Amino acid sequence: MDFSNDPRFKGIKPFQGRIWLSSPTMHGDEQRYVIEAIRANWVSTVGANIDEVEAQIASYVGCKYAVGLSCGTASLHLAARLAAERLYGQAPAGKGTLAGRRVFCSDMTFDASINPVAYEGGEAVFIDTEPDSWNMDPAALEKAFELYPDTKLIMLAHLYGTPAKMDEIRAVADAHGALIVEDAAESLGAMSLYKGQWRQTGSLGDYSCISFNGNKIITGSTGGMFLTDSLEDANKVRKWSTQSREDAPWYQHEEIGYNYRMSNLVAGVIRGQIPHLDEHVAQKKAIYERYKSGFEGLPVSMNPFDPQKTRPNFWLSCLLIDENAMAPFVRGERDQLWRSENGKSSPGEILAALQHFNAEGRPIWKPMHMQPIYRNHAFITRNGSGRGGSNAYIAGDTTDVGADIFRRGLCLPSDNKMSPEEQDRVIEIVRRCFE
Ligand SMILES: Cc1ncc(COP(=O)(O)O)c(C=O)c1O
Repeated sequence: MDFSNDPRFKGIKPFQGRIWLSSPTMHGDEQRYVIEAIRANWVSTVGANIDEVEAQIASYVGCKYAVGLSCGTASLHLAARLAAERLYGQAPAGKGTLAGRRVFCSDMTFDASINPVAYEGGEAVFIDTEPDSWNMDPAALEKAFELYPDTKLIMLAHLYGTPAKMDEIRAVADAHGALIVEDAAESLGAMSLYKGQWRQTGSLGDYSCISFNGNKIITGSTGGMFLTDSLEDANKVRKWSTQSREDAPWYQHEEIGYNYRMSNLVAGVIRGQIPHLDEHVAQKKAIYERYKSGFEGLPVSMNPFDPQKTRPNFWLSCLLIDENAMAPFVRGERDQLWRSENGKSSPGEILAALQHFNAEGRPIWKPMHMQPIYRNHAFITRNGSGRGGSNAYIAGDTTDVGADIFRRGLCLPSDNKMSPEEQDRVIEIVRRCFE
């Protein structure tokens, strides 16, 4: 589609510099800590930067121990393995600790959230999304326990920085004796009213994980952390992340190990970022609120949250188009097609228009149960199995909240360096899509 000759966009100029979805924001001290480490020759997976960021993040999140790792995915992998060993015992080398086991997983999330289940030989069962916070639906989770009562592990992500319904999820988990691996990769700085107290995400799981990937609210270019109140678990993760070396004069191994420890240079960048975490959250919140008021009158809503029970970090601002304002839009496996219609639009059209004007948006995470790699895995909605519910002869159940949000939603440019004027232009581009 050629937006240059589209009269709806007359008078709008492309951005000179690209407007990003969410890019790193450096402040200066990052460089100082990295250079100090290089000068002192602490260019390894030990050093003062790692010690500092572990202590600072543990104190910020409100947990006793934090273990710096190479990335959030590594943290999720080791968390899944810890949980699996607690539930099912150690596995021989070459056999995953989750072999033959089901794990209930968030469905609408990045695949890194749930791939660790497969790394450990387990089978992910996907739990549908609720419309109030776009996270795992506690009612669908309860249904999943009815269908698969032997399951004992839940992998739960807080999407786009909005905390999941933790009280409800924990109640269901407790009722079935299940453990929770909390994926707070996107939600560092977000808070949840949990058991009557305001708590940081990253302190709400039996095992919790965060990410410092380049697009996150603060970054180390890469990096992740495992968070826990258990010294034993923290020490186990330290051991596994450094190749599982035993206490012997030579390299002696009784367990499979990984090269997952954080670099002291990466930790230097994170150390420079931590003092700016709250400032980034405030900037992201202002962006969310500006979009919300800028879209007034349009047939759209923003990614929702419950202000009584959650304080998101507003990592990504998203919008959802009202069903009756959806222009025709279809997606294949790798391509898509949309048509413009008066007063209507679609994620395909809006993302292409943003791209035309040099701004980066993104589709909502395509739900895991729709991904080719996981298409034969069970998918559970609040009504039961979400597979094969339609009927050629009589009306059937096709409940699939995640698929619906994927179809009607999109992530907006949410970079904290975007000026209010630039954001107004993004808003104007979106508005014109509905003309
Ligand atoms: C929800 C979620 N989980 C896990 C990850 C993986 O983190 P990392 O990229 O640090 O491995 C990411 C992001 O990258 C994510 O968004």
